[in-house]
Amino acid sequence: MLLIEKIVIKGGKTLKGTVKNSGAKNAVLPVMASTLLADGKYKISNVPDLKDVRTMSALLNSIGSKVEFEKNSLTVETEGYNNLEAPYDLVKTMRASIYVLGPMIARFGYAKVSLPGGCAWGPRPVDLHIRGLKELGADISINKGYIIAKAKRLHGTRISFEIPSVGATGNILMAAVLAKGYTIIENAAEEPEITSLVKCLKKMGAKIKGAGTDRLEIEGVEYLEPADFRVIPDRIEAGTFLVAGHMTGGDIKITNSKPEYLTAIINKLRKSGAEVNEGKDWVHIRSRGKIDPVDISTAVYPGFPTDMQAQWMAMMSLAQGTSVITENIFKDRFTHVAELKRLGADIEVNGNVAVIKPVKFLSGAPVMSTDLRASASLLLSGLVARGITNVSRIYHIDRGYEKIEKKFQDLGAEIWRENEKHIT
Ligand code: UD1
Repeated sequence: MLLIEKIVIKGGKTLKGTVKNSGAKNAVLPVMASTLLADGKYKISNVPDLKDVRTMSALLNSIGSKVEFEKNSLTVETEGYNNLEAPYDLVKTMRASIYVLGPMIARFGYAKVSLPGGCAWGPRPVDLHIRGLKELGADISINKGYIIAKAKRLHGTRISFEIPSVGATGNILMAAVLAKGYTIIENAAEEPEITSLVKCLKKMGAKIKGAGTDRLEIEGVEYLEPADFRVIPDRIEAGTFLVAGHMTGGDIKITNSKPEYLTAIINKLRKSGAEVNEGKDWVHIRSRGKIDPVDISTAVYPGFPTDMQAQWMAMMSLAQGTSVITENIFKDRFTHVAELKRLGADIEVNGNVAVIKPVKFLSGAPVMSTDLRASASLLLSGLVARGITNVSRIYHIDRGYEKIEKKFQDLGAEIWRENEKHIT
């Protein structure tokens, strides 16, 4: 008998109150990887307590760092390395493990990192990471499912990405800061998490220009030094709570946030009829009692994030009319559709386009998380569904949302965790 946790929700509560935005998962992971670039002691604050953070800590520990995590603060001590490898067992649970590739090859001239493989929503290649590192002078081969990278010292170059990939930009950036000479990354990702990585690397002594634009210029340096860093707020967590506020007819203030990261989401929420107010570090949503249908097309930052697509779809199921979602980043990212349909949603997918016809209500049912943001869409639906919704395989949600049921409880939701029995 195996005990696995599930989340149970009794729908129908209007969410009201204040919730604190946690640090961003997608910002802390590359910052953690960047500690491989210089020996010494780092303190990273505002770190969300997430499974992915624990996985990255385990990976750094296995490489030879000492990582300690206490009260949203991470201490990383790096000195001496014994194992320049990211094994399949870790990489398969967290694709962002690939972030150690760039720093390891730049610093130690060697890295062995498992190829991540596909994921629930498609092939998700890493060709741009590999090509970029090759252009920086790394000798890269693939052997038994592993990327083996070797280099004496990387050298600066001009890299022009066909697609502005967040992960590839971060990886190349972390490699180029220690390369000899100048590197230019064109068509770089402009996501706030990349800008945050640039800030962290600059604090360590890197010379980088162009943060927040699609062109990064890096002047390689001989060595870097450790630095302390505070993680930026998680815009996807904030966006999820904003949708929860509108969807449940509620009134929610999100503190410790950065509304400027949320412009695309806030604009769409206003179009959908919600009242949204923002301050320097807070954002407040008040429902006006109805959800107007609003189409979205996912895009790179500052466009509407693909990581909010599933949540938006859940909300549009209860809108006053039909809406259309076009997924432009990960064209197959629709695994949540079948589960939302189990709750009564009326959604049709054709290629990368989903048409959502409104239903009068959703009904609680047992559903299964298929990935991180899909899980969020199921929780949101459960909050408004009639009756009980059981969400299983919640390890997905624990990868990226800190204390999610506690935060919803504090806003008045009836939501809790239970053990589920599995016959093995
Ligand atoms: C990051 C985020 C993820 C988010 C995504 C898009 C982290 C840890 N994860 O993922 O939450 O959904 O950005 O905002 O930050 N691509 C290639 N070849 C590559 C790399 C990417 O073709 O080598 C393609 C992908 O298939 C996708 C697009 O580029 O179509 C963007 O992906 P990318 O920005 O790289 O996403 P991740 O960094 O994996």
